[in-house]
Amino acid sequence: MCGIVGYVGTRKATAIILEGLKRLEYRGYDSAGLAILQDGGLEVTRRVGRVEELSKAASKLPLHGTVGLGHTRWATHGGVTEANAHPHVSSDGKFALIHNGVIENYSQIKTFLLGKGYSFKSETDTEVLCNLIAYHYAKQPRGANGGSPFLSSVRKALRHVEGTYGIAALCVDFPTEIVAARKASPLILGVGENEYLLASDASALVSRTQNVVYLKDGELVHITNRDFAISTLDQADVSPVVDRIDWTVEEAGMDGHAHFMEKEIFEQPVALENTMRGRFSEDGSTALFGGLNLTPAEMRQVDRFMFCACGTAWHACLVAEHLIERFARVPVEVDYSSEFRYRNAPLDPQTLFFVISQSGETIDTLAALREAKRKGYRVLAINNVVGSSIAREADGGIFQHVGPEIGVASTKTFTSQLLLGAMVALYVSRMRDMSFNDGVDYVKALRGAPELVRRALAQAPHIKEVAKRYAHYTDFLFLGRLSLFPIALEGALKLKEISYIHSEGYPAAEMKHGPIALISEKCPSVFLAPRGEIFNKIVSSMQEIKARKGPVIAITTESSELPPGLADEVILIPDCHEAVLPIVATIPVQLLSYYIAVERGCDVDKPRNLAKSVTVE
Ligand code: M6R
Repeated sequence: MCGIVGYVGTRKATAIILEGLKRLEYRGYDSAGLAILQDGGLEVTRRVGRVEELSKAASKLPLHGTVGLGHTRWATHGGVTEANAHPHVSSDGKFALIHNGVIENYSQIKTFLLGKGYSFKSETDTEVLCNLIAYHYAKQPRGANGGSPFLSSVRKALRHVEGTYGIAALCVDFPTEIVAARKASPLILGVGENEYLLASDASALVSRTQNVVYLKDGELVHITNRDFAISTLDQADVSPVVDRIDWTVEEAGMDGHAHFMEKEIFEQPVALENTMRGRFSEDGSTALFGGLNLTPAEMRQVDRFMFCACGTAWHACLVAEHLIERFARVPVEVDYSSEFRYRNAPLDPQTLFFVISQSGETIDTLAALREAKRKGYRVLAINNVVGSSIAREADGGIFQHVGPEIGVASTKTFTSQLLLGAMVALYVSRMRDMSFNDGVDYVKALRGAPELVRRALAQAPHIKEVAKRYAHYTDFLFLGRLSLFPIALEGALKLKEISYIHSEGYPAAEMKHGPIALISEKCPSVFLAPRGEIFNKIVSSMQEIKARKGPVIAITTESSELPPGLADEVILIPDCHEAVLPIVATIPVQLLSYYIAVERGCDVDKPRNLAKSVTVE
C-alpha cells in the first residue's frame, strides 16, 4: 500500500528519503515521488514505476535541501500516471502533500475549490486536500492567534474531510517544517539526533533511529528543525510517548537469501521459538498470556469465540477454530473482516472476539474490531506490529514477536499465528476439560514445533525439483481435510499471489461436488494427506483424481503408507501432534509456491497488484 517518508534535519534530505522509500517498496506501489524544500521553493519529482526510476531522475537534479517528503503510491483515485503520483502541489504553488488513504468527500470539496479559483492537474483526492489546505492558509488572517498558520490550515482542512488519511505537508513559507496527521492510516515519527523522520512504517526510518512516537488517530504533528509538537484536531496538546523499536535494520536485511520470502520461510523455526518464549506455565501444562487483560474467571465465562481476519490471517482463524472446538469444545465462528463489518451479525452476549492481522493495519480488520467494540464486545488481537492501529485499539492481545516480515506474502507471520491459535486452544481447554497430563503432552508438542519445522524445511531441495517439473502448469488444486483444509486454502493463495497461477483450495471430499470437472492431465492436485483418522478417505479422493489422469503431489507424514504409484510426487513431513500438524504442513506448500514462482521468474517479494498491508477498503 502507499508509503510515506519525511525528513527534517541537517543532512541532504533526498538520499535519506529515497532510502526510506526503497525500504517501503515491499508494501506494493505503482509510482513514486519526492518534494524537497530549497531555495525558497519546492522541487518535485515523480515517476511511474520503481523507486529506482525516481532515484535516477533525482540524481540529475541539484537537490540539496534538508527538508522533504517522499511517497510510494498504490493507485486508488485515478490511474497510474506521473500526474497522479504524489507529492501533489497546491495550485498556488505553496504546499506539497503526500497522502495514504482515501478522502471520501473529495468530489464536493473539489467543486467548492474550483469555484474559488483553484485548479487541478490530477484525478486524485490528495490534490483536492492539498488545495483545501492552501485555501484555508490563504484566507487566514496573519498574526491573528499567534499559532502556526501552517499547522492551523492543515487542521482546518482536515476538519472538512471524510475518509482516512496519513498525510504529510510542506509549505514554502516554512522551509524547515513538516505538518503531518493521521486517521486510520499509520504514521510514525522518528526522533533522531538533530533530525526527525516521518514514515508510514518503521522499516523506513529504523536505519536512522529506533526512537519513535506512534501517532494516534486524530493527531497532528508539527515538526520543525528544533523540535516537534503533537496536538489533536480539536487543538488539544498531546504529551508524546517515545517508544523504542526492538529490531534493527540488519534484521530487515536479506541475509544471503535470494528473496525476503525465502529468508522468512527459513526463519520460521526461530520465529516460532520467539512466539512461544515465556508463554508456558511453570508446571508445563498450559499457556500463559500477559496481555489479554482478561482474568481466568472472565475467560471461563466465554461460551463462544468469534474470529475475524483477511487473507492468510483468515486461514489462521480457521485453524484456531478447529483446535478450539476440538480440544476446548467451545463453539467458534470465523468471518472475513470485510463481511463482518457490514453484515450486522447477531452475537451471543458471552462471545469473545479475536482479530488476527500480521500488519495490524488492515482496514477491514480494524473496522471489524471497531464494530465489535461498538457493540460492546471485548476484542483481543493477535498481531505482529507493536504500535499498530489494531494493537492499540484492541482491548488486549498477543504479540507474535517474529520480527519484521518484508515479503508481501505472509509466511512466518502465518505459522506464528497458527501457533498462537493452538496456544489459545490449550489455554481455554485447560480451563475446561483437558487434563493436566494431556496439557503437558500438548505443551511438549508445541515446544517441539520448531524442530519439526526444521525437518520439514530440510525437504527444500526435493521440493525445488518438484517445483521445476510443475512450474509450467496453469491450474492447481490444493486439497486437505479438517485442520489441513485451511492449509490447502493457504497453499492455493500462496501459489496464486506470487506466481499468478490459477489455484483453488478445497476440502478433499468436496471434489466430487464440482471441482472434479476441472481434473485432467493439465491440472495437478496437491493433497495434504497426513496419517490419521481420515487418511484412507483422502487416499480415496486421490484415487478419484488419478482415475481422471490428474497429476497428484502428495504431502504426507513419514509414517503414512500411500498405495505405491498413487502419487506422482511425494513430499514427506514429520509425524506430529494435531496441534502442530497445520504448522508443519504449511512448510511444503510455502516452499512449493515459492520455488514455482521463482522458476517462472516472478517478482516474489513484490507481486503485482498486492500490498503488504491493505489500508484501503
Ligand atoms: O496484515 P494482515 O495479516 O491483516 O493481512 C491480511 C491479508 O491482507 C494478507 O494475509 C494477504 O492475504 C497476504 N497477501 C497473504 O500472503
